[in-house]
Amino acid sequence: MNSRERFLAACACTPLDRPPVWVMRQAGRYLPEYRALKAKSSFLEMVRTPELAAEVTLQPLRRFALDAAIIFSDILVIPEALGQGYKFRDEGGIAMDFTLETQAQLDRLDATGVATRLDYVGQALARVKTELKGERALLGFAGAPWTLATYMVEGGSSEDYTRIKELFYTNRPFFNALLEKITAAVIGYCQMQIRAGADAIQLFDSWGGIIAGQDYEAASLHWTRQIIAALPKDFPVILYAKGVNSQLTDLAFSGARVLGLDWTVDLGIARKIVPGNVALQGNLDPVLMNTSPAIVRRETAGLLESMRGSSGHIFNLGHGIMPTAKIECMEALVETVTAWK
Ligand code: CP3
Repeated sequence: MNSRERFLAACACTPLDRPPVWVMRQAGRYLPEYRALKAKSSFLEMVRTPELAAEVTLQPLRRFALDAAIIFSDILVIPEALGQGYKFRDEGGIAMDFTLETQAQLDRLDATGVATRLDYVGQALARVKTELKGERALLGFAGAPWTLATYMVEGGSSEDYTRIKELFYTNRPFFNALLEKITAAVIGYCQMQIRAGADAIQLFDSWGGIIAGQDYEAASLHWTRQIIAALPKDFPVILYAKGVNSQLTDLAFSGARVLGLDWTVDLGIARKIVPGNVALQGNLDPVLMNTSPAIVRRETAGLLESMRGSSGHIFNLGHGIMPTAKIECMEALVETVTAWK
């Protein structure tokens, strides 16, 4: 069984000798070869140039025996394609070109043709697909509508998410109209990524945990479910909803084949709560990658042990790897998972 087959088997909860492993690098400038490319081109240039995006996608796979690659891009390409661009603040974090607040700004967002405007992502996927030769799995991704709306309404990265929450509670028609546009754009975008060769799609609801638990459905899951329902039946969707741990059962009935879990959830307990036909992905604390190979081996083995005998596990970190991660820790992680019996 090659890596791609192993990955898809884990998504389908087929019993395996060891789980597949991959790691997200978002905001993780831990690879010298990434920093070397970044010295020559800006992040946005790399995202928009299929050749460069494909190269950055493949960098970690040359170093580590990972079972899957995640396409190099950003969740914020969707607001940008809708008409609200973004850049990085000098002091860190994201700045959107404007803060979305008026009806006129909402009306100007154009959800038609988003997939065409993001064709460069499809081209990058097709390039990587060819390079992987069917041996390793290729993941596309998108932001969940709620998480994208937080950036659009807050005007960038936020400390307290007051604006988006106030909007949700005070002007539901505006909120719903915005989320409807984002959802339509994400659906077209995911369908395009599947046509371009993605084996699975991960939806990132990175800020799902900031809304009241009882409002998670109306604010976020309602929209994510529409995306999953619009994709081909049984196509593997991984739903990563950070901090949404009291609603594992609701997430499990979203239609996603896999739930991505952050490190605050005990994987063994999650396995008992989530129905056996839904796979789990995660969930080592990314901070461990700053420690030492011995500690990473110990914690990785502990996590694997907690899932012994349960099928449907994809090994991953509980969030993106940090820029401070040590390469020898990443090696220790991949070695421990791939040697696991
Ligand atoms: O592993 C990968 O590289 C996959 C590609 C990927 C990136 N962003 C590249 C990236 C993925 C899957 C993302 C998703 C993403 N982007 C999310 C969801 C995942 C999560 O972390 O919860 C979010 C919230 C974003 C928005 C975003 N993009 C943030 C908050 C930042 C950090 C800004 C900062 O303060 O530096 C980014 C930048 C970003 N996206 C980088 C990468 C590799 C770092 C850019 C750099 O090299 O400086």
